[in-house]
Amino acid sequence: MSKYIIEGGNKLCGALSVKGAKNSVLTLLAASILTSEKVVLHDCPDISDVATMLQILRKLGCKATCEGGTVQIDSSGISSFKIPCDLAKELRSSIFLLGSLLSRLKRARVVYPGGCDIGLRPIDIHLAGLRELGIKIGEKHGHIDCDSTRAHSAERVLDLPSVGATENLIMACVFIDGVSVLRNCAKEPEIVDLQNFLNAMGAKVRGAGGSVITVEGVKKLHGVEYTPIPDRIVAGTYIIAAAMCGGSLTIENACAEHISSLIAKIPKSSCKIYPRDDKIIITSEGRHSAVPKIETMYYPGFPTDLQAQMMALQSISDGTSVIVENIFETRFKTASQLCKMGADITVSGSTAVVRGVPCLYGARVAATDLRGGASLVLAAMAAHGQSEIDEIHHIDRGYEDLSLILPSVGVDIRRQN
Ligand code: UD1
Repeated sequence: MSKYIIEGGNKLCGALSVKGAKNSVLTLLAASILTSEKVVLHDCPDISDVATMLQILRKLGCKATCEGGTVQIDSSGISSFKIPCDLAKELRSSIFLLGSLLSRLKRARVVYPGGCDIGLRPIDIHLAGLRELGIKIGEKHGHIDCDSTRAHSAERVLDLPSVGATENLIMACVFIDGVSVLRNCAKEPEIVDLQNFLNAMGAKVRGAGGSVITVEGVKKLHGVEYTPIPDRIVAGTYIIAAAMCGGSLTIENACAEHISSLIAKIPKSSCKIYPRDDKIIITSEGRHSAVPKIETMYYPGFPTDLQAQMMALQSISDGTSVIVENIFETRFKTASQLCKMGADITVSGSTAVVRGVPCLYGARVAATDLRGGASLVLAAMAAHGQSEIDEIHHIDRGYEDLSLILPSVGVDIRRQN
């Protein structure tokens, strides 16, 4: 089992560049089968979730290659509508193939998806939306069988602005005659990216970024070469890292607007943040004041995917911070690991109370999920002494090997396989 060994206490200095967003790339890969022509995606991160998605596409009969961050998909030979069970259990985003398979092959079979253990993560909103479009759905023995031969345009109000359901339904609608209307949609930048990608292939999707999205059916989509938006969660993780360790960091290929809710919560007295075109520069000095309240919310609210990293920052800030997790039920698992490093955190249901301590101490801890794992890396970077972080396969799902990236800005981190 691989682990990171981190000697804490170094200030950060230099520049880090952000790759394409995991949550965009995974969706665009699912959408790539909507055409039988070649799809080229640039700037894809070298992370295990992308590798798993490519494996799933290959199992369906697609040709999928990845070289130097450029992924090429040729789905002209797609032969199966069954998403392999073992891989789907590893990757929640495999569920996004439901919409694209139904559009391409009129049939899809999936199992209930996997991913991080951060809550129940049901797919009822996806399925209810598909049913509204006239898609037949049968569920037995953990399989979901769908048939879209009688699909028709419709109007659907999503129960919650689910990112995955919004994306799945957009993809399910692209070839349906007439105009389908989706209301109460998620507004995340990744949805806008999906719209731009599909429209570049010839689709007619409008309204992404707002709560009403319309999809006018077209007959066919064509190939495309596309660069996804930069990963706002990776950029946000780097900002929090700089805040915690001190020093000066330039984050290249980052969009400040996509993480404005994070930037608003970084204490201005001890941190200066300068957004510059596609860069964000942050300087940090001294101890930060605790942020009294942080509540995760749908975009443009504070992202649940930065909650654990923000908890690490609050754990060494001056004062008490109350963190409320509104999106996923069990997303506080990292608190107990941070406490092993000296943090003072009490969790009760969806609320965590973080009483800032002057410093954390190196310890042996384990990642329990992707973002929680990133939070432990940040805590270890800022702590006194050495930390060992086990179970880093969770971190590999969404971050490129941090032992190859972070030393360039002064972090003492190595990977032991
Ligand atoms: C996506 C992101 C994930 C992020 C999350 C919330 C990808 C690959 N993953 O996940 O990183 O943390 O958005 O920003 O893009 N829900 C239901 N029924 C459903 C679907 C969702 O009740 O059918 C609930 C979920 O339990 C959760 C909330 O809706 O409480 C939001 O989930 P959703 O937006 O669907 O998250 P994902 O698309 O899975």
